Amino acid sequence: MASIESVMHEQRVFAPPQALVEQANISGMAAYQALCAEAERDHEGFWARLARENVAWHRPFTKVLDQSNAPFYTWFEDGQLNVSYNCLDRNLQNGNAEKTAIIFEADDGTSTPVTYRELHQRVCRFANALKSRGIKKGDRVVIYMPMSIEGVVAMQACARIGATHSVVFAGFSAKSLNERIIDAGAVAVITADEQMRGGRALPLKNVVDEALTLGGCDALHTVVVYRRTGGPATMQAGRDVWMHELSAGQSEQCEPEWVGAEHPLFILYTSGSTGKPKGVQHSSGGYLLWATLTMQWTFDIKPSDVFWCTADIGWVTGHTYIAYGPLAVGATQIVFEGVPTYPNAGRFWDMIARHKVSIFYTAPTAIRSLIKAAESDKSIYPTQYDLSSLRILGSVGEPINPEAWMWYYKNVGGERCPIVDTWWQTETGGHVIAPLPGVTPQVPGSCTLPLPGVAAAIVDETGQDVPNGQGGMLVIKRPWPGLLRTIWGDPERFKNSYFPAELGGKIYLAGDGAIRDRQTGYFTIMGRIDDVLNVSGHRLGTMEIESALVANPLVAEAAVVGRPDDTTGEAVVAFVVLKRTRPIGEEAKQIATDLRNWVAKEIGPIAKPRDIRFGENLPKTRSGKIMRRLLRVIAKGEEITQDTSTLENPAILEQLKQSL
Ligand code: PRX
Repeated sequence: MASIESVMHEQRVFAPPQALVEQANISGMAAYQALCAEAERDHEGFWARLARENVAWHRPFTKVLDQSNAPFYTWFEDGQLNVSYNCLDRNLQNGNAEKTAIIFEADDGTSTPVTYRELHQRVCRFANALKSRGIKKGDRVVIYMPMSIEGVVAMQACARIGATHSVVFAGFSAKSLNERIIDAGAVAVITADEQMRGGRALPLKNVVDEALTLGGCDALHTVVVYRRTGGPATMQAGRDVWMHELSAGQSEQCEPEWVGAEHPLFILYTSGSTGKPKGVQHSSGGYLLWATLTMQWTFDIKPSDVFWCTADIGWVTGHTYIAYGPLAVGATQIVFEGVPTYPNAGRFWDMIARHKVSIFYTAPTAIRSLIKAAESDKSIYPTQYDLSSLRILGSVGEPINPEAWMWYYKNVGGERCPIVDTWWQTETGGHVIAPLPGVTPQVPGSCTLPLPGVAAAIVDETGQDVPNGQGGMLVIKRPWPGLLRTIWGDPERFKNSYFPAELGGKIYLAGDGAIRDRQTGYFTIMGRIDDVLNVSGHRLGTMEIESALVANPLVAEAAVVGRPDDTTGEAVVAFVVLKRTRPIGEEAKQIATDLRNWVAKEIGPIAKPRDIRFGENLPKTRSGKIMRRLLRVIAKGEEITQDTSTLENPAILEQLKQSL
């Protein structure tokens, strides 16, 4: 860890505007510190107070945190609630019935508003429809859907009946979908005929069919299909049903299924450094509290706000900041079907102007690609649009480079909107380290300070705190309500991955390297410490991509590393050894194309290697370990200055340096 050195010495500081501070939900540094002090004094009492104030409990909890089976912590365990009730019914009771819950904007620009009353009706109807297929509390339901009102309805309907959903990003391949259906033991898949992105229709139902023919989905009995485009969808009698037909005639009332606070609301698969994806399991009570509090704290949400999180519901950001958080606080939000570059790269700015978006939350990879587009076509420069409705900007998914931060701050935020650079993970449920818009002076590239009650720290391999100014491993020393509860079906892996014995078995290891500023104590994230890539804000395990490559009949061995990329953050570079002799010239190019398509099919287009290099072998230590350190240097096109004397076969490096 001592080798993690920070090269960034950012000096610029941007204080939040006074007007925003004055009316903020947490107003000023003293208010933030008072909350931190309250949590410090009485950790459990602090969360209990917030859970009582912010969640509607069907049966109040008497227990707060149970640490007796650490690290399988539980929160509010004997309390009962329903997450969908909290997101919908509560809004009907508190005067938000006619308020717009969602403004859906389709790929082609058509927009459809839905009020809380309508959303409640649609969720109830679909919840009843699911029940009519025998789907019940505790069942797992896979959702493989486009960005749509129906996608949110599907998630909320599962929550309403106590079924645990597992949303699979609709860009994943049939094979990845198949593995997730099997691992979750899903009884149903909810999908669409097709999805529209950038003017093109892409099949979804066909992918589901292919996933199911791969076999092993033994528990599955139902496929519900939302008709989005009217495109091809073969319906298998008995198994497949149209969403509109199944919902027709269903009652608009559906008594929520009251579940214990620890009942699994969802499983979301995410990449780890080894083996298959991990099914991150979240709770109902603690998770909902986390989604609610972070909407209030980090986004400073107000009744008049128009909130827009551009993430997909297939990722955790789309769970917490589309499907649950905004609804739990009664906000109006945008749900967008399309892509940022269609019909042109001014789409986001145009939508902010048209819908008068006040809080805009996106990923650095999107910002970087829009910078590129805007710098070459001034007609779509953000300053060409009326972005005066914006008051807060957010960033998530990967470190934001200070220059991209500055561009975002100046050209999108008009130098008046704080940027909340939110550090969190699928596992943390919601933001854990982030500036608060009415509190924290921001430093470009830093996610600044932990939220109240979050005991974030940086430690060395032995678990000792490192001094500020020194890099180390980011940990969180006390459980918080939004923390994942386990890995679905694999509690051992949960313990080993996140609560390693070397660190005492009770503190949460995030898997990121970080450093704190000497003066301010601000956190800056330095990237993953395991073999996980971050491509366009999506976590990809190198191991999974390697396994996919090796599954190709031509391939003997493969090693995958990341290379820094201006737009996507990291790009996938694969070093491949074929079973036959090393290909060169046109043939090598052809095989590389085939392998890229192969990975797209095995995992999904996001995992496609940008660059493939062929060698007779891979650089290995004498004990046979692939030297990824060297491969990373080669991938960047840099000269190897490291010691290669331990290498079994140094000549191989020359081959691997040659790009196609
Ligand atoms: O490496 C960190 C990076 O994204 C990882 C979490 O990925 P995932 O579980 O897919 O969740 C993404 C959305 C929360 C982290 O371990 N990451 C996320 N946000 C930031 C970040 N790195 C730096 N700064 C951030 N704001």
